[in-house]
Amino acid sequence: MNIIHISAECYPIAKVGGLADVVGALPKYQNGPKIRSQVIMPFYDNAFTKENTFASIYQSNVTLGDHTYPFNVLVLDKKPLDFDVFFIDIPELLFKNYVYSSSDTERFLAFQIATLDWLLTWDIYPDIIHCHDHHTGLIPFMLQESYKYEAFRKIPNILTIHNAQYQGWFSHEKVGLIPPFNFDHVGLLDWGGNINPLASAIKCAWTVTTVSPSYMEELKKEANGLEHLLSAEYKKCTGILNGIDNAVWNPETDTYLIDNYTIKTVVSGAAANKSYLCKTFNLDPKKPLFAFIGRLVYEKGSDLFPEVFKQALEKQDISILLLGSGNPETENQLEALKPQFEGRFNAHIGYDEQLSHIVYAGADFLLMPSRVEPCGLNQMYALRYGTIPIVRSIGGLKDTVMDIKQENGFGICHQNVTVSEITEAIDRAVELFENQKKYKAIQNQIMEIDHSWDVSARDYINLYNSLKTK
Ligand code: ADP
Ligand code: GLC
Repeated sequence: MNIIHISAECYPIAKVGGLADVVGALPKYQNGPKIRSQVIMPFYDNAFTKENTFASIYQSNVTLGDHTYPFNVLVLDKKPLDFDVFFIDIPELLFKNYVYSSSDTERFLAFQIATLDWLLTWDIYPDIIHCHDHHTGLIPFMLQESYKYEAFRKIPNILTIHNAQYQGWFSHEKVGLIPPFNFDHVGLLDWGGNINPLASAIKCAWTVTTVSPSYMEELKKEANGLEHLLSAEYKKCTGILNGIDNAVWNPETDTYLIDNYTIKTVVSGAAANKSYLCKTFNLDPKKPLFAFIGRLVYEKGSDLFPEVFKQALEKQDISILLLGSGNPETENQLEALKPQFEGRFNAHIGYDEQLSHIVYAGADFLLMPSRVEPCGLNQMYALRYGTIPIVRSIGGLKDTVMDIKQENGFGICHQNVTVSEITEAIDRAVELFENQKKYKAIQNQIMEIDHSWDVSARDYINLYNSLKTK
């Protein structure tokens, strides 16, 4: 079985968030004697593309309405990854020092068309086309409706929704950018009067998955306007929980860490990482360290952080460290909090892969008060590194974290995203930290939880097989 994943992100090549982690791991765990799982992604101007060399295996032009853009398909000269990656290089549109911008319609449409044009030249077509998020959301429609892709009609395609908040909509005035199709079916592109790539993919893909079972349920009630569509298409939708790449996220071998450790050595290993963080960020290693890593956006509840942190720091003898970037107002408010709580609060505004690993290892608690969390990988990384997650019970967080009040529970959960519920959760964490015996027992317990990709990668293969026999 030859599976093609098509995605805007893939770790370690280009990462903005969890989509990259998933697309950078799932193919690795799908590959086997009878399965070849490969990735097609855009060629960006970033550290990875600067540090590696590439060979061009195909050259052509991609047509977008009245415009024609030259493009190449590139492969890596050497093979630093466990799966094949093909890069769509459209210098004028994709080769930028960012993944996303505020005007991406043409960029990702050209990426999708160039991808399909190139696949048409293959001697043997792929068995499965697996699209990720709205950046690849017009592919199921084009496979089904565009005249030039008629040869692909029988190839099963699947959409995975990593985040339904972002849908990639654009005006019908741009419909001419899509390769000619039977205009009677233009409604398959539409949602709410716009062309909506995510909605179109939900309608046209043979099957749709989301990244956790709870998120699938939640989407029927709240999906940024797509709830009726998801309710209507519910029969072809499944929630498959993401895994984590245990080879990358392993405290015993993680080369980013200050000190490596196992369950047996977690106390000293985590302490060495904490001590580095505290030295770097001027915090007291004796106090419990609460951390947040992620995008500073409404979905993550980060607009409440300035007030939550202020109240928690006034009430409790703790330290807080934040790593993230996003909403400029939140960033400014967090910067303003630094002098007020010098020596107890610090923030690194930006993206830093290595630092994130050290924080998972060195923090005592990881905060995730998300309003929306389709799956969330951070809590699973925290568990593996022996850091106790404090989460709002929603989406994938609900599916992966059990409150300490429950039998065998190991995390701290709250139901609502309010300043008072988050600070109460921090109070409960402080209480747990004071009981070091219990804290350490939980630390050992969580490091043993298995969130590896093995099970979910197999679930996807079973799903593909069920489509092939349709
Ligand atoms: P989302 O994809 O919604 O941002 P996930 O929890 O699925 O959330 O995944 C986030 C991924 O991005 C994790 O690998 C996390 O460690 C990483 N990450 C997020 N923000 C940063 C940052 N500022 N620096 C380093 N890594 C980050
Ligand atoms: C999205 C979601 C996140 C999920 C990730 C990977 O970015 O916001 O919850 O873990 O995709 O599927």
